Amino acid sequence: GQTFSMKDTMKIVTIVGARPQFIKCAPLSRELRREHTEVLVHTGQHYDYGMSDVFFADLAIPEPDYNLGAGSGPQGMQTGEILARVEDVLLKEEPELVIVFGDTNSTLAGALAAVKLHIPVAHVEAGLRSFDRTMPEEINRVVTDHVSALLFCPTETAVRNLAREGIRNGVFLVGDVMVDALAYNRGIAAERSRVLPRFGLQPGNYLVLTVHRPANTDSREHMEAILAALGDAGLPVLFPVHPRTRKALEGYGLRDRLPENVLATGPLGYLDMLEAMARAAKILTDSGGVQKEAYLLGVPCITLRDTTEWVETVQDGWNVLVGADRERIADAVRTFAPKKERSMIFGEVGASGRISSLLRCLHDRWNPC
Ligand code: UD1
Ligand code: UDP
Repeated sequence: GQTFSMKDTMKIVTIVGARPQFIKCAPLSRELRREHTEVLVHTGQHYDYGMSDVFFADLAIPEPDYNLGAGSGPQGMQTGEILARVEDVLLKEEPELVIVFGDTNSTLAGALAAVKLHIPVAHVEAGLRSFDRTMPEEINRVVTDHVSALLFCPTETAVRNLAREGIRNGVFLVGDVMVDALAYNRGIAAERSRVLPRFGLQPGNYLVLTVHRPANTDSREHMEAILAALGDAGLPVLFPVHPRTRKALEGYGLRDRLPENVLATGPLGYLDMLEAMARAAKILTDSGGVQKEAYLLGVPCITLRDTTEWVETVQDGWNVLVGADRERIADAVRTFAPKKERSMIFGEVGASGRISSLLRCLHDRWNPC
């Protein structure tokens, strides 16, 4: 088995690269730095100001110790670039543990670079499955979980998914670090964000839309169906556009033909996004994180996919899967209404602190004084 080396404080390399990972690392980094030494590595998978820097500013994330500038590319090339560049850093830093988050190419490449150097990997948000292997994220999750020594699960479903694949050691149900990010920032966002007046929106009287999954962006039919359904919504729709989606809409010649009530803008910072979601009537999305935040904020979510990793939100009646079907989307916009109170499916606040304490305990147990 893998063991940590004999030192007092643990040296940890944390790897982030894409928007949702900046959000996930913010609360954990704050906790880790109380008792461990953290080296923060940004792979450069996302690099626009609105996809990267704005989150470091909004969430007061420490400046990365490395920015590897890997950038965009096809799946294999991007993953390979990140793998090679992270390996260099790990050889130089010789950490005792590598932490990766979620399910992006930065997650997979970071985990692979570490295990091949015999450095144990901790996976935050382990055990999620959509059971759709055409999603790049599903491949990233499965492989990352199978090479990780420590698996920090947000939900009981995630723990069960791992058990079904034979992964039982090193699995901890800790809750969700995005709960911590939201709890910490909700008040700050309400105080600071001017996003509603900026777009002339009234609380409770508009929709929020995000789309960035290849299954939608890479299909003209899907994008046309989604936009047509929202054109009939009878409410303003705030649409912060992911760069992948902007490029797709340009390619289809749809960018200048959006319905009048669809207010397209660049990607929002985290505080504006939180405020916009919190006051929305409903949220439409194909994002993983946004489905979860909609639930936490108590806003009904209409998911533009046929599967989800966050099945509890659907079972609880606060999320509905409608794919990219114009009629089903329009129907959900008109009629979808949760019937019961929400429960604590993502655990209590404090996942970040629980992860940090567990690392302390494991380190002490592996290094008895
Ligand atoms: C990635 C993740 C996805 C995650 C999403 C979060 C993978 C396989 N996918 O998808 O799981 O939900 O991030 O947002 O890792 N681009 C820019 N500027 C940027 C970043 C990207 O213009 O700062 C454009 C490039 O044209 C790029 C495209 O967006 O080719 C896609 O970026 P990429 O990081 O490959 O994947 P995402 O779709 O962002
Ligand atoms: N987000 C944001 N601005 C936006 C869109 C999303 O701050 O314009 C936040 C959102 O609130 C959530 C995270 O980004 O915290 C989700 O990331 P994304 O949808 O890109 O990826 P996924 O969660 O699907 O991997």
